[in-house]
Amino acid sequence: MISPFGYHHLPAMDVSVVETPPEGIEADVLGFPVPDPAELSDGARDLDQVVRGRLTHLIDDGELSGSPGTVTLVHTDGLPAHRIAAVGVGARESVDADQLRTAAAQVAVRAGGVGGGTMAWLLERNGFSVSPAEQARAIVEGVAMGGYDAGRWKTGNDKRAPIARLVLCGPGVSAAAEEARRANVVAWWTNRCRDIVNAPPNELTPDDLADFGEDIAGRSPRISFEALGVDEIRDAGMGAFSAVAQGSHNAPRLIILRYEPDEAPQNFVLGLVGKAITFDAGGISLKPAEHLEEMKSDMGGGAAILAGLGAIAELGIPIRIIAVVPACENMPGGHAYRPGDILTAMNGKTIEVTNTDAEGRLILADALWYARQAGATHLLDLATLTGTIQVAMGDYYAGLFGNDAAWIESVHGASEASGDHAWTMPLHHSYFRYLESCFADVKNCPEKKRGSPIIAALFLAQFAGEGPWAHVDMAGTAFLDRGRDYYPHLGATGYGVRLLAELARRLAA
Ligand code: BES
Ligand code: MN
Ligand code: ZN
Repeated sequence: MISPFGYHHLPAMDVSVVETPPEGIEADVLGFPVPDPAELSDGARDLDQVVRGRLTHLIDDGELSGSPGTVTLVHTDGLPAHRIAAVGVGARESVDADQLRTAAAQVAVRAGGVGGGTMAWLLERNGFSVSPAEQARAIVEGVAMGGYDAGRWKTGNDKRAPIARLVLCGPGVSAAAEEARRANVVAWWTNRCRDIVNAPPNELTPDDLADFGEDIAGRSPRISFEALGVDEIRDAGMGAFSAVAQGSHNAPRLIILRYEPDEAPQNFVLGLVGKAITFDAGGISLKPAEHLEEMKSDMGGGAAILAGLGAIAELGIPIRIIAVVPACENMPGGHAYRPGDILTAMNGKTIEVTNTDAEGRLILADALWYARQAGATHLLDLATLTGTIQVAMGDYYAGLFGNDAAWIESVHGASEASGDHAWTMPLHHSYFRYLESCFADVKNCPEKKRGSPIIAALFLAQFAGEGPWAHVDMAGTAFLDRGRDYYPHLGATGYGVRLLAELARRLAA
């Protein structure tokens, strides 16, 4: 079996930051943002002079628009940049980092259509409320993520050409060089996460996900790797995780990565836990057939934890981390666990199974407890946990829950700054009524769907041990069934990788 990681091993984009005036930049396409109503920034005005006022003429004739989503391509004949791409970003005062990511992605997609190669971007010095460093970060992410191609299983030569080089230019841009470099690392790992989440469940089994973890560990002497097998998982007392896994012929793995940089404070250990159901059929409580293929993405939380750790280690962020990723399939079959089964979790609590499709909380129960026992002082789990979070929030915000206001706020702040948005949801003990069982300490699923993301989070809270814990329900944001913003196509978003990299950076600062 080919490791999906080694199989699709694209080099990172080559990003450079230069003070050269835009008319001296060599590129296949040079992009810049146009606000609505359309006007040219200082840098764009310099370009306009070199193309003998063509940009101004286009604006005067209403052919160059600042409305979001419009890209106007102008051939330059004579400039080292062969084409100029003016891209609308909407009203100047409402331009945010996401709008810039989207604009950059749109230019990258157009550039890909004419052969990829080198793209340049002219940063605005003081036009928007987004600082030049944040602009640089957004543009790098927009180009790298917007040009992502999920069609690697296609056999023809109809693959989109990614941008190989990105040059950021504009006055004072060199202050943004470090931010651009970091963003490029994080975007690369985000795309690797997308590779893994898009990978079909016949190619990405729990063993393959463990290989991905091992590959990441192999890149840094600061990361150690371990992946427990089926017997070790059972012998560790993980009755909940074992039960979910037992219905599949593909054996489970508990993937454990420890990142221990020398300079990190010893009294803080970030415990990262990610749901990794490599295929969620629902088990005996079988899901309906519609869109069932999307359940290959039910390992999106685990993939983000692994790729996020890869990014954090490559950036050398000094913070201790233990990552725990329970990986298995949730299948029906003669060995499958059943509604009615009573399980004993690693922490000793008994769980009555009332729905085998509420499996994520079961594998996370044991993984959270394991991470806490292994020394995590602060826990964060990422999980595609409930379809109803998607009903509530759609595909832009994930739901954020936790037991500690300060810790929740740390995660929330990192999420908003990173572009992986999450919004805080309530978690009150009163909801525990829904989980009371006549037979066991708790049941895994209430009869009704009302309040489902909150109840799922409250279930997890019982297994998070003492200390801060936060939970991100990313069922709506991990995998898109249609493109949006800087994700031009459906499929995996890599949600969580940027959030984790930003959180680690803030915690280490
Ligand atoms: N993996 C699903 C949640 C999911 C649904 C993720 C849609 C992405 C898109 C999860 O295991 C699940 O089946 N949840 C159930 C919970 C219910 C049984 C309480 C759900 O959402 O219906
Ligand atoms: Mn399920
Ligand atoms: Zn699931």
